Formats: sequence, structure tokens, C-alpha cells
Amino acid sequence: MSSVNAEDDVCDNNVCTELVFYVNGKKVTEPQPDPDWTLLWYLRKKLRLTGSKLGCSEGGCGACTVMVSKYNRKENKIIHLAVNACLAPVCSMHGLAVTTVEGIGSTKEKLHPVQERIAKAHGSQCGFCTPGIVMSMYTLLRSRQNIKYSDLEVAFQGNLCRCTGYRAIIEGYKTFTEDWELQRITNGTLNNSCTTNDNRFGTCAMGKDCCRNKTGTNEDESETQHIFDRSSFVPYHSSQEPIFPPELKLFDVYDNQYLIFKGKQSTWYRPTKLSTILALKEKNNDAKIVVGNTEVGVEVKFKHCVYPIIIMPNCIPDMNEITEKETGFTIGASVTLVEMENVFKKYINKLPQHKARTLVTIIDMLNWFAGKQIRNVASIGGNIMTGSPISDLNPILMSLKVKLNLLSKQGFRSVLMDETFFTGYRKTVVKPDEILLSIEIPYSEKYQYVQAYKQAKRREDDISIVTAAINVIFEDNTNIIKNITIAFGGMAPMTKIASQTSQSLIGEKWTEGILEKAYSYMLEELPLSPSAPGGNVQFRRTLTMSLFLKAFIAIAQQISNDYLHEDIIKPYHSSGADQFHGNMPKSSQYFDLVGDKQVKSDAVGRPIQHMSAFKQATGEAIYCDDMPVAENELYLAFVLSKKAHAKLISIDPSKALKEPGVVAFFSAKDITSHQNTIGPIFHDEELFASEKVISQGQTIGVVVAQDQASAQAAARKVNVEYEEIQPIIVTIEDAIKHNSFYPQYPKKMIKGDVEAIFQDKSNIIIEGQCRMGGQEHFYFETNAAFANPKKEDDELEIFCSSQHPSEIAKLAAHVLNIPINRIVARVKRLGGGFGGKESRGMLVALPVVLAAHRLNRPVRCMLDRDEDMQMTGTRHPFLIKYKVAATKEGKLMGAKVHIYNNAGYSIDLSGAVVERAMFHFSNAYYIPNVEVVGHVCRTNLPSNTAFRGFGGPQGMFGAENMIRDVACRLGKNVEELSRLNLYQDNLSTHFGQTLTHCTLQRCWDECIEKSDLATRKTNIEQFNKQHRWRKRGVSLVPTMFGIAFTEKLLNQAGALVLIYVDGSVLLSHGGTEMGQGLHTKMIQVASRTLGIDVSKIYISETATDKVPNTSATAASSGSDLNGMAVLQACETLVERLQPYKEKNPNGKWEQWVSAAYVDRVSLFATGFHATPDLGYNWKTNSGRAFNYYTYGVACSEVEIDCLSGDHQVRRTDIVMDLGTSLNPAIDIGQIEGAFIQGYGLFTLEELIYSPTGTLYSRGPGAYKIPGFGDIPQEFNVSLLKGAPNPRAVYSSKAVGEPPLFLASTVYFAIKEAIRAARADAGMPLDFYLESPATSARIRMACEDNITKKLNIPDPDSFVPWNVVP
Ligand SMILES: Cc1cc2nc3c(=O)[nH]c(=O)nc-3n(C[C@H](O)[C@H](O)[C@H](O)COP(=O)(O)OP(=O)(O)OC[C@H]3O[C@@H](n4cnc5c(N)ncnc54)[C@H](O)[C@@H]3O)c2cc1C
Ligand code: FES
Ligand code: FES
Repeated sequence: MSSVNAEDDVCDNNVCTELVFYVNGKKVTEPQPDPDWTLLWYLRKKLRLTGSKLGCSEGGCGACTVMVSKYNRKENKIIHLAVNACLAPVCSMHGLAVTTVEGIGSTKEKLHPVQERIAKAHGSQCGFCTPGIVMSMYTLLRSRQNIKYSDLEVAFQGNLCRCTGYRAIIEGYKTFTEDWELQRITNGTLNNSCTTNDNRFGTCAMGKDCCRNKTGTNEDESETQHIFDRSSFVPYHSSQEPIFPPELKLFDVYDNQYLIFKGKQSTWYRPTKLSTILALKEKNNDAKIVVGNTEVGVEVKFKHCVYPIIIMPNCIPDMNEITEKETGFTIGASVTLVEMENVFKKYINKLPQHKARTLVTIIDMLNWFAGKQIRNVASIGGNIMTGSPISDLNPILMSLKVKLNLLSKQGFRSVLMDETFFTGYRKTVVKPDEILLSIEIPYSEKYQYVQAYKQAKRREDDISIVTAAINVIFEDNTNIIKNITIAFGGMAPMTKIASQTSQSLIGEKWTEGILEKAYSYMLEELPLSPSAPGGNVQFRRTLTMSLFLKAFIAIAQQISNDYLHEDIIKPYHSSGADQFHGNMPKSSQYFDLVGDKQVKSDAVGRPIQHMSAFKQATGEAIYCDDMPVAENELYLAFVLSKKAHAKLISIDPSKALKEPGVVAFFSAKDITSHQNTIGPIFHDEELFASEKVISQGQTIGVVVAQDQASAQAAARKVNVEYEEIQPIIVTIEDAIKHNSFYPQYPKKMIKGDVEAIFQDKSNIIIEGQCRMGGQEHFYFETNAAFANPKKEDDELEIFCSSQHPSEIAKLAAHVLNIPINRIVARVKRLGGGFGGKESRGMLVALPVVLAAHRLNRPVRCMLDRDEDMQMTGTRHPFLIKYKVAATKEGKLMGAKVHIYNNAGYSIDLSGAVVERAMFHFSNAYYIPNVEVVGHVCRTNLPSNTAFRGFGGPQGMFGAENMIRDVACRLGKNVEELSRLNLYQDNLSTHFGQTLTHCTLQRCWDECIEKSDLATRKTNIEQFNKQHRWRKRGVSLVPTMFGIAFTEKLLNQAGALVLIYVDGSVLLSHGGTEMGQGLHTKMIQVASRTLGIDVSKIYISETATDKVPNTSATAASSGSDLNGMAVLQACETLVERLQPYKEKNPNGKWEQWVSAAYVDRVSLFATGFHATPDLGYNWKTNSGRAFNYYTYGVACSEVEIDCLSGDHQVRRTDIVMDLGTSLNPAIDIGQIEGAFIQGYGLFTLEELIYSPTGTLYSRGPGAYKIPGFGDIPQEFNVSLLKGAPNPRAVYSSKAVGEPPLFLASTVYFAIKEAIRAARADAGMPLDFYLESPATSARIRMACEDNITKKLNIPDPDSFVPWNVVP
């Protein structure tokens, strides 16, 4: 690459080499900006504004969202845009104003209402996503007046949250909408209590159960559906917002500068004239044009592309204008998608309806294109020129054969975007010295119809699987096809026009008769090899025909309405044209209020907000990587295995060590094999692979350097030579075939006489199997650690994002070969854990500790998202094979079950996970005779680990499949059969635990009643009769989750309570705060026990020098175990203070404390709790496995689109027994969060592995967790009343894991809906559906005349692109 010489640099005479922009109202001048720096990096590392978070680096999570404001001189107005700071190059900020979460409010001064409301509404749990969500909301508020709910929906398309389940965020932010404000003003009050019996806030989701419809009784007064107090919200006034920097408004100096920023690897040019850009391009054909950087940024970060010359054309008028012409629009190539959308929207209102059809189609598609943050910066030219085969706009533009205007120093030319434009994968006819200048999009004609459909895994913010665009022109006033172009994305290495199909239809009438012809041409013209990249081959092929059918129906309806005035489509088929769209979700939360009798200072039972919520909402909450840089600090980067099973021939770090800034390389050679052998229970894995690798993503070595970029670049230069070993075992089936199991297994549980039951001829016997996929934790904060050696006696402090600091300290001591007493592991908070940071955090913390100890310098590392996903394992995929016996009445009599989980390369916690699946395989159903066997498969995958539910949900999934199989065989109603088999008090489980205080049947009956199941079932039947292509289903599922670690020794906890002379209390306990509100609950427990207000109690962190030998914060037992320890410590102190209280009964807490101190009474105490009576014995299948059970029941209704496989959850009702809740707001947040996480597990989230063990799903782009748009349209949660739990602190119950399985209601409701579709198509009603029920699986299970057209290739005749692990 030749570089641009100095003369060219100054061909534009207003050159500037200094970056100037504003951050939170302050001017920032950067004399030497580097084009490699992202805005996020600059904010966090250079300006130390750590409020904006790094969740993914690929624009897929929204954690980094900031507001970028600019002055639009043409329109004389300020424009505010939400932008992903992780993709925005800081160089692109010249002359702009950036606002971060720190810039809008703080706890020290004043919270912004956007920050206050998300916190008070309980919309922040771990808080890692919160700053990004706050900034999306803030930008919306600044950009628009009179906000509608639909605006919120759009604003949050690019934000994800893994904890809350979104409902709480939506509720908090609904209060900014026009409707809510109007109600507030009309009523002249903010008090929104439902109990006041007015009707200001619309209809309550509880229907007749709404407290407004009840009168007088005490019971009614103690209930509320309002979980936060809107009346305390500070009103929002836009007038109080900070002003836009006057300099940027008054002067255009920054807009007109020709910028040249020279960095280490690249030079950034921002010319202001077209001629300059062409000159640059002529001299440097490889120069990269960058507009939104949403494509290039991802290439640079993840494919490590280096572009020495970058040209940003955003200040070149010809490329940034939209001009209206008689025939349509000329859109400058750099026009952003949002600018285009805004202009098109204006014109849609002005133009005659037929002229605007193309614009409407483009706008409809844009709604499904990425998230708002991406659309705000991404350009239309960038989308075309990327040439992605799964682009969403290109199929539409190609179906229209739009004109593209190209320009180079050699001149101007126009090309059509037709079948000749894309010449290969990401290749076009545009020459290297040419740029795309503009795109001409014509108006549609009177008889022209343009329809497009996109099917992705997730509806919002997802790249497409297949996009179809159909552009048809009819002969005047007829349904005879004059011309038609059908284009597809996702069916070839480039966007493809189905020319022959299109050609074959010309002259035909737009009637059902054309369908078969179109299908047969499509099948010929759009083949896909069974090994095609992207997988989902049958689904994609089916989609071409199904999406065409959707378009056919939609266009037929339109021409019928517009001019034909005869029905082409039967009403029964009309639903085929529809797409799902969001509506404002409704919700209710029912829980007991504490009542007036409880003293005010006693916080137990009150829905108080998470103690850190305000700090999380302002960006002040500190996570591991937010900690200030220490003097001499180094950064660590990983060298990971690229083979799943191979001998390590050589590891050569010499090139890496020569790189500037590199300090050291560590590998297995640097420690003894004993030190190198680690693991949470069994030490069966290596910290650094020594002789062979047994999975991709395994650590081979680490490079330590002065900063992250140098360390990561050097790590890529470590040369590793492998010799592959066979077999590579990826799936459970592979493991069974190769007999690859962990030696401690199988384990067996036997109860009763199973054989006799299966021989009893009066029973029915069913055999079956079910499979559940794994699940990536996708905690928002990736694993991070920071170790600081104390330079004396091997002392070392580790700050880490671990759920298990004691284990980190223990393993660190093992790796360093020093006593544990030299190491303090500290955890302030985690940005989510969900089990993923219970044991696997060691993979990051231990190398960091080793490097810090050896180099005697502080060392830090926070994994990139793709590293985290490749290294740390997931929820275990499960296969369950069962044989079940039942009476003719449907009573379950016996079950023989084999459970397999895919453990990966080390056993980690996989044994305990399969054991929990064994304990829970019968879910909430009593089965008197049982033989259950658990197998742990050893595979060449990353080691799978704990994940919320810990095998429980997978076991329960087996039970729900069994009960449905029985119901199906007997032709009985599933709900009746389930009810018949539910556990009750005094029944004994298959592991010999007799149940007491069993509230299952109460939860069941209450859920049936609250969900109005009977009426809704009738409605569903009616709906299904009327709609061929949309079907609804409903399902009810119970959960019965055993509370305790199944390993007895782990059921212990400690606490340390310090009272200072001023009366303030510092509380420490063994649990970590990862968003679940544990610290808040512990403060509530202490508040009741000590009899003081929560404001006097503080928890700073979890540290191994305060409470030693703790168990992981896991198994839902954090509050149970630590709560009892806190209670005990506080009781000790209360006892010591009692004499002073008695002496001065009217005194205050501070006075009693002071008196005790003067009297030389100890004001600190420890507490310790070991759960009594626990201990299951595997040999005798007896003893108490669980302390108690958390029960719940959910009912969900879904609607599926039988043609695309898409679905929507219409309503979910949950009733849960949480005893006497310590904090109903936190508990309901846990229920909703677990449900939505479970919803992801059962419907959306798919781990994609190659047959050789390469993980393809390494970030939010390929791995889809639920978004805002996925939550049930109606979501009602009730806590069961009057069910105190005698076995946990203040009668409460554990909540973290139990509700997750309730999301399987969605899966089973989908199955019901598919069954209805199959009935219509005359297909057998018994069918197999693996979990997750993805759009692909739903569509393919809705077998019909389209799916039947495809041949199923012989599985032995090809190697698939991906396999299901
Ligand atoms: C989170 C995320 C979600 C996404 N979702 C979608 C989606 O749903 N659908 C979809 O289709 N795409 C999606 N994309 C892809 C991407 O956002 C789009 O392709 C976008 O339009 C690219 O525009 P840009 O301005 O950011 O391109 P850039 O990254 O700036 O540039 C992209 C390419 O175009 C070239 N280029 C740009 N302008 C010109 C020009 N005038 N002349 C010549 N070459 C030029 C560049 O050199 C570069 O090669 C997504 C990307 C991300 C990160
Ligand atoms: S970190 Fe920027 S979107 Fe995820
Ligand atoms: S609170 Fe949203 S990711 Fe944790």
C-alpha cells in the first residue's frame, strides 16, 4: 500500500490534524488521535469515564450507548443520536458533542429522571446494561416530544438486558410517554395507587381480580399491583437539560476542515470535497471508505483487518444529500438509514399511495434492520458495498433494479443493481478506484407492488436467515403479471435474483395457480448444498417458497382492495400475509404488602429498590474493569487453542515477545504440572494446555504487555503447531458412539419396582426422548480480573468478577504454591453471573494472578465477548431417553430414564448438574417406581458449567415431555392429567424425601383461575379454525425446585457485622452481588434484626479476608444461607446491646451503641449457618436432599406464523410460592428475569458448533438472547399468599433458579400451536420438536405441501455445516 504523500494531504487547504469534540459539555482536544481508537475506548481509558460499558464490541448489546449531538445547519436544528460507542471511531466525533451517562446526572448532585425512574422501577439488577439503556431513553427524550410507546420500542431495539426480563424497565419508562403524562396532568397528582378506586390508569391486567374491583376488606387493602411508587418520580422538564455547546452551533469551522489523523497503523482522512476523495482513491485503491463503521469496525475488531488509509466522506455534500426528482429519489451513498427513513416517512404522507409503495416497503424493512443505534450511523452505501449475502436492503434494491451512480477520477458511470452487480461473495462490479456516489430509488407505479419479508432468529436486531423481496408490475387494471423480479438474501454467496422464476411468471394471472409453478422454479433456481455455510438448509429452502406465498397473499389482498375488487384470497388463508408487530405490553404484579403494623424501620417484606440501583443508573457503580489504572499496570491476553483435539507440537512465542510493549509470555512450562492442574471439585484440567489440547478455546498461554491492544496483537503472533487427533467428539451422540463418559458416572437412583410396573399389562407404556440445547450465559460483564501484588510475603489482592471468591483465592494459592492467607479475593459486584462465573472465572483470574505474582506488577484482563464465549462453557446440552408407565386413567406409575449431559473437556460441575437433573426428572409429579441413570459425556468442547437451574430445568423438561406423551396416548387433557399427578404433602419423592408445606396444587389452581384458562382455550380453538397460517397454543407447567446445594458441605455460610461508634453498620457476608439483590436482602434482614433503618447499614464488597471458606453464591441459596448467618450475627449484637436498650428505653440506636462502646462491649460479631438435617445418601437413596422446595406454576399462550416459523408470546401468568418474600420487588424481578432467560433457552438461543468443534456463535450477532420486543404482551406475576416457609430466614424462600423452567410453557404452547397447524395440513399429530423451538424448527414442524417438496438428503452423504452439541 502506498501512502498518500504530503502534497495530496494538503490538496484541500483547510487541513486539521487535531481532534476536537465535546464530552458532557467539556471541550476535548486530542492532538494525536489514532484511527484505531473507538469512542468507547477513549471515554473509558483516556477520559476515565467508565459509565459506558463494553458488552460486545460489535454493536449488538447497547451497553456502550452514548448520545452524539450535532448541529444540522441546513435545517437549523440540533440532532441527537444514540450511538454505539464501541463501533464509533473517536476520529468520527470531530465537531460533535458526546453525552455519556455521567453527563446527565449523578447521585452526588442530581439524578436525571431517566436514571431515577429505571432505578425506582426496579429496572436495574446487575446494572451493566443500565447506562446504555438510560442513554437510549435519554436520547429519545432529547429528540422527541410527546413520546409514544412505539417510540420506546424503536429506541430499545438495540439494547439488551440479561437480568431483568425488561418488564420493569418498560414500566419505568412508560412514565415518559405522552399517555402517561396526560393522565398525570389530568389527575393533578402522581399517585397511581390502584386501591383508590378511580380509573385513571386504564384497565388492570388482573381483570376482575384488580384491587380496584374489591372493597373494604383487610385482605384487599394489603394487596397492590404497584411495585414502585410513581408518585416519588421527579417530573421531567426538557428545559433543564444542558445546552448544546454554543461553539458548535455558532461556528461551522469544524465541519469544513479536511482532517488528517495519522495513527500507528492507519491514517484517517475526512475530506470535504469530492475531488479530494477521488484523488485519494485513485492513489490508494485499497483506501477504505468508512461511514458508520458498523461493518468495518467489526472487521477490524474481530477479523483483525488493518486498513492503512481510511476515508470518511461524511462532509461531502453530494454523498450526504437526498434529492427528490420527478421519478423518485437520489440518495447520497453516505446518507444514514435513519436519515433516509425520516425523509421517506415525510414523503409517504405526501405522495399518492401507489407512488409510495416502495418507500413503505423499505421503511418496513428498516424496522427490522439492526437496532436504532446502528441505523443512526450506518449508511445505505455501506450496506450495498458490503455486499453481504444476508443484507436486508439489497434484496429490495435488486428487485427494483435501482440505479447506482459510481464515480472515480476517470469519470462517472451508472450501473443497475441487477443480477450482474454482485460478482461473488462480498464482491461487486464497482472498480477499486471508484466510489459509490448515490443510489436512485424510483417511485412505484400505479400497478406496481413491492413486498419484502425477512426471517431471522429474533425479530428485532438480527441479521436475516432469508430475506425475500418481490416487485411485481401488473398490466393496467388487471392481475396479469407484466413484469416481476424476485430477489432473495441468504440463499447464495450474494443476494440473488430468481430470474427464471420471475421470467416464468410473466403473463400469468396473480392467482393461486401461479404458486406451484413458482415453487418448482424456485426449487431449481435456489438450490443449497446440504453443507451450505449458515446451516438451516431445509429451512432456508422452505422459506423461499413460504415467503413468496406470504408476498403472494399480501399483494393479492392489496390489488383486490385497490382496483380488482374481487377476492383472490380466502379469508381462511389471509393471515399468511401478516407479520408480528409489537404492542404496548401489559403487566401486573401481585404480592402482599407488609401493612401498617410493621415498624417503619423494619425493611423485611418491603419492595425496596436494589441498593446500588441509583449508582448503576448513573454509571458510578464500579465493576472490575472500571477500577482505576494502577501504577505500572500490565494487561494480559490469551493464546487459545484453535483445534478441538490435537497434540501440541510446538508453542513459539518469540515473535510475540519482540513486539513493542510486550513484557512476558507464560505457558505450562512456567509452572509445575501439579500447579498447572486445576478444577473446582476434581482437579482434572490444565491451566495451560501442556501436551495436547482437548477443546478449542482452551488456554495455551498468555501474553502480558503494557496495554490491551499490544497484548492482544502479540498473542496473535504466538505460533502454535498442532497435530490433529481423532476422534473429535462434539455431540452427545458422538460421546455415546465412542463410549466417552466421565469415569465417576453413570450414577443411578432406584425407587420401588420399576420392572414389575412395566410388566403390568394394565398400564400403558410409552417410550420417547427429548433433547435440550445448551445456553450461553451472556452475562453482560465478561469475566474479568485484576491482581495487585503487595510486594511483601507473597501477599496479593485479586479483584474479580467471580461468584466464588473463596475458590479463586484457593486456586490462586494452589497455582502460586503459597498459603491461602496471603491472598485476598475481592468482589464488589458482578455484571451478571447466572452460574457462569461460579467456577469458570478461574480461567481468567488464575493466569492474571500468576502473571502479577511473577512480574510483581499489577495485571488486568477483561475478556472480549468472543473470547469469553469460546472459553468459558455454557449450560449443558441434555438428551433424555425415557420409558414411562401410566394407568389408563393417566396416573404415572413408573419411569425408566437415562439422562446424558454434554460436559465438555473437563468435569467441572457437570456431575452435580446431571445429578440435579436426576433429582428433578419428575418435576412436580409423583412417580412411585423409578429408575433414573445419569451419564456425563466427555467431549471436545469447552467445559460446560453451572447455569441458573443447574440441570434442574433439563430434568423437568423430561417430565413435561413424558406427561404430554401420556396425555396424547390416552387422548386426555394435559392440564387434567398434570393436576392428577401433582405432588402433595406426605408423598415421598423418588429420592426418598417426604414433602411438607407443598403448595403445588394451590399454585396450580390459582394459576388456572388467574389466567382464565378455560375461556382462553375456547377462544384459541375458534382462532385456529379461522386461520390457516397463524395458530395459537396454550400451556400450563409447574415447577418444583429443590433448594440446597446437593453437595452437603456447601450448605454453610458466614457473616461479619461491625457496628461503629457512630451507629453505622458494616455488613459482610459470603455471598456476591451479581444483580440478584442479595446485598439488599441481607441489609433488610439486618435491618429487622438490629431494629434499625436500612440507611444505617452498608455492604461494601465480598472479601475472603472478612468471611473465609465461603461457598459459591449459587443454587438459589444465597439469601437462605447468608441470611441466616447475618441473622445470627445480628442477634448476637442485639443481645449485647439489650442492657443498654433496657437502661434507656426511649433512647436511640446511636446512644445504645455509644453506651456499649464506653462500657467496653464488643461491637462486632460473626454469624455462621449450616443448614440442618441435610444429607442425601446415594447408596441408600435416602436422606434429605433439599432443605425445602420452591413451587410455581405458569401459563403461556403463543401465536405462531406457520409460514415463517416466527412466534409471539401473547400472555404469561405466573403464580409462585416464595414464602413470605423478603423483598417482593426483587423477587418478582427474579421471576421475570428467570422467565425471560428461560424463554431464550426454550425458543431463541442456539449454540452453533461446527462438526470439528468450532464455535460459530461468538457474540450477540450470531447468538440471540431475548430482546425488549420478545417479552409476553401480557405478563402477570403473583406471589402466593399465606404460605410462610418455616425453613428459611424470616419465612422467605429462594427464588433465583426455580422460575426459569416456567418458560417451558412457551415451548409447550408452541408445540400445541404446531399441532393445530399439522392438523390442518393432515399431518400426524405426534411429532418431535427439539428445544429450543427456533423459527427454523417451528417452520419445519409445521409440515405442509411446501415442506413436502424438499428431499431430505441422506445424513451420511454430506458433512453438515453445524451440529447440535
Ligand atoms: C449490530 C449490527 C447489526 C446489523 N444488522 C444488520 C441488519 O439487520 N441488516 C443488514 O443488512 N445489515 C446489518 N448490519 C450490517 C451493517 O450495519 C450495514 O451493512 C450498514 O448499512 C453498513 O453501513 P456503514 O455506513 O456502517 O458501513 P461501513 O462499515 O462504514 O462500510 C461498509 C463497507 O462499505 C464500503 N463503503 C461505504 N460507503 C462507500 C462508498 N460510498 N463507496 C464505496 N464503498 C463504500 C466501505 O468501504 C466498507 O467496505 C448490522 C451491523 C451491525 C454491527
Ligand atoms: S458494547 Fe457496544 S453494543 Fe455491545
Ligand atoms: S441489569 Fe441488565 S444486564 Fe444485568
